[in-house]
Amino acid sequence: MTAPPKANGNGNGGEPLDLSQLDPILDEFKGHKDAVIPILQRTQDTLGYLPREALKYISVKARIPLNQLYGVATFYTQFHLKRRGRHLVRICDGTACHVRGAPKNIDAMEKGLGLAAGATTPDYRLTFEIVYCLGSCGLAPVALVDEKVYGQLAPQVLVERLKALP
Ligand code: FES
Repeated sequence: MTAPPKANGNGNGGEPLDLSQLDPILDEFKGHKDAVIPILQRTQDTLGYLPREALKYISVKARIPLNQLYGVATFYTQFHLKRRGRHLVRICDGTACHVRGAPKNIDAMEKGLGLAAGATTPDYRLTFEIVYCLGSCGLAPVALVDEKVYGQLAPQVLVERLKALP
């Protein structure tokens, strides 16, 4: 069994960040101080999230105040300041899903996988979020795992499927 990575405070599981990966992005938007959102989007696409070190790096290299970067990164829900799991599990607890058993699926995440809503496993395999309608109410209760929709989902099936993910 592989030991989980040690946290080093950057939320990157102890792995060093190669911030030079961001240079092509910063070159592309050089001189465009109004390009904070695309810079942050491309940074998140590259690193998977927006670690503190990356925001400092962008601030120095692109001469954008750090508090401006944080302001944008914390305003928009599309940005994540903490590292997330390789797989994103969204369980719907909208009305249709709630009455058809979503609370049992949410409970199974906690009891079967030790994951509370909003949490990420220590090995960064899974991140779990609760959402309120995935537009597939006819299949309730529904979960979305990465891009795949699972309908009429029973708690044991959910836990087994998630345990089987790489
Ligand atoms: S309420 Fe769950 S998909 Fe609509």
